[in-house]
Amino acid sequence: MASSLPALQIILPLLLLLGTCSANLIRGGHKEFDYFTLALTWSGTECLSVKDSCPTNACSRSEVETGFTIKGLWPDYDDGTWPSCCEGAKYDENEISILSNDLSKYWPSYSCMSSSACGSFDASDLAYEWAKHGTCSSPVLGNQYEYFSTALMLYFKYNISEILSESGYLPSNTAEYKLEGIMSAIQSALRVTPVVKCKSDAVEQVQICFDKTLQLQECPSTASTCPSLVSLPIKNTIKPLETNNLSFRGMRA
Ligand SMILES: *[C@@H]1O[C@H](CO)[C@@H](O)[C@H](O)[C@H]1NC(C)=O
Ligand SMILES: *[C@@H]1O[C@H](CO)[C@@H](O)[C@H](O)[C@H]1NC(C)=O
Repeated sequence: MASSLPALQIILPLLLLLGTCSANLIRGGHKEFDYFTLALTWSGTECLSVKDSCPTNACSRSEVETGFTIKGLWPDYDDGTWPSCCEGAKYDENEISILSNDLSKYWPSYSCMSSSACGSFDASDLAYEWAKHGTCSSPVLGNQYEYFSTALMLYFKYNISEILSESGYLPSNTAEYKLEGIMSAIQSALRVTPVVKCKSDAVEQVQICFDKTLQLQECPSTASTCPSLVSLPIKNTIKPLETNNLSFRGMRA
């Protein structure tokens, strides 16, 4: 291993200099990713124990329905690791303003707190996803518009909420479903195995994977964190507290 280091030290800067010849390296010296994971969140599970209530949290918004919303579109390496915080343009809402209605409904935040990503503090979840993951999706997706619109396109095209409901897996606060059945419903619709993750027995996340031409592919690891019987809870919409509603107080005064 040590003997290959000097060679690498010469080749790496050369590749970066040549730029166009660096087939396997993207800006910032990260190795190009291998495949995409599209991660989806089951809104009903995410809102089971709402920690924060505020008008921007999906758990307080009735237009976010029971079903899957987008959690992220992540460039990944085959070995189970992933690049993050690559170089790229700073998040700019104006670049994706045409997508803002869809993003707000289908890629909502489940928190009232702002997130910090890649060393900089940003207000929104979308800014975080772009800085941490989106910037690493080059050269397949070259900018913020391509990144967010591709995620939405894949989400619309492979409607997992619909696949489940058509197979009889309906949102319910009492029904228990076989994990195996849920997995095979998705598998027979898409011809790939989904990754299913749970919080206790409630389905929390479904992930499906795509190659770099955006065709479905098997995920390298499909280990599930779920018990054999799982649930798909109905989303409980909790109104934000109105403790500081001055107009209300004013009316009463
Ligand atoms: C997915 O399918 C369901 C059920 O047919 C539908 O209500 C929902 O709007 C679809 N979601 C998207 C994002 O198209
Ligand atoms: C404040 O309370 C009033 C009366 O209940 C209600 O109509 C109004 O929508 C509330 N405003 C906000 C910002 O929650």
